[in-house]
Amino acid sequence: MSIALPMLPLRSPTASAWPRAAKASQGGDPPPAPIEAHREGVLRDSHGRVIHDLRLSITDRCNFRCVYCMDPEVRFFGQDEVLTRAEMVRLVRVCAGLGIRKLRLTGGEPTLHPDLGGIIADVASLRAGADALDVALTTNGSLLDAVSLHRWKESGLSRITISIDAVSPGAFAALTRSASRVDAVIRGIRAAIDAGLCPVKLNAVIIRGRNEDQIVPLAGLAREHAVDMRFIEFMPLDSSHAWDRGLVVSAEEVIRAVSAAYPLVPLGRDDESSTSESFLFADGRGGRVGTIAPVSRPFCGACSRLRITADGKVRPCLFSTTEWDLRPLLRGGASDGQIRAFIIDSVWTKQAGHGISSDTFTQPDRPMSAIGG
Ligand code: 5AD
Ligand code: SF4
Repeated sequence: MSIALPMLPLRSPTASAWPRAAKASQGGDPPPAPIEAHREGVLRDSHGRVIHDLRLSITDRCNFRCVYCMDPEVRFFGQDEVLTRAEMVRLVRVCAGLGIRKLRLTGGEPTLHPDLGGIIADVASLRAGADALDVALTTNGSLLDAVSLHRWKESGLSRITISIDAVSPGAFAALTRSASRVDAVIRGIRAAIDAGLCPVKLNAVIIRGRNEDQIVPLAGLAREHAVDMRFIEFMPLDSSHAWDRGLVVSAEEVIRAVSAAYPLVPLGRDDESSTSESFLFADGRGGRVGTIAPVSRPFCGACSRLRITADGKVRPCLFSTTEWDLRPLLRGGASDGQIRAFIIDSVWTKQAGHGISSDTFTQPDRPMSAIGG
């Protein structure tokens, strides 16, 4: 960043919350973005993309250990490493002043945060230009209850995405390695619909040899509850680094499987920066099927996203191997202007694409649970 910050402590590389984390973070400041990027007042990267979508991870903790995300023996951040509610809300306010219109609260599992309701209320009261900030939540759905969902809705939460990778109890237990039951998640889905958090979207990661047989039952779930079921290609973001291209079930394969049971009508992308392609059921039944295909059909060129982790690192890309530490500024007396400049500089460093298919691809050390999906 271009502004000197003499009052701040020296930045040290990120403390390691999982064995290989230290490599992922350089510490230090991002290089300064051109002066025009600072004048413009929006978040633009060096590839011309405008960023208006923030994913904020509020905790790295989770009650699941999904095979594609978290090792059973994962270590979590210490309490003082995680941003406080006030720090998170301040960052979101600064970002909203830089053109962020949509905020997604993620984790880990955000419903484990003891003050999720307070965070929702605070961020939903922020303005994004003339409108209120659009606030959504991603959850594994296992801990949802009607009272909290209604309260969040009243506080301004607009939408919810619930992960569900299997309908069969056995497959669900094997994938999530948790004591929670799939029935609890399905009850959570119902409760979210009843609370009016529409459209309720469901996410499933399909892994070869694990849950391909769940594709059709999951599409059936979308029909039964008239919700969107989105199938996400498995990405190299698992903490065990077991990802292999052979384990990826492509979007095309998913659509072939669903169509054989329920013929589909393609709708295309919801908007140009949307990551998913949608399909309606040809028989007119409610609900939709969608695919998110970062591996077989990368959509990096249209990316409008920025991520901030629960420990206060700006991650310009899901696959960043460099991240920028906001915590020393937050805790060192930096002004909003300095934080704003730091975020503008960080966004400028956003890489062109993930390059999963390139020979030089390096998997980030942070697993998805410590990034925020
Ligand atoms: N590949 C694809 N999606 C993933 N998610 C977590 N890890 C991975 C991965 N390795 C998804 C979860 C959730 C969202 C937050 O991210 O299923 O829906
Ligand atoms: Fe938890 Fe989500 Fe990771 Fe599963 S994918 S372990 S629910 S953070």
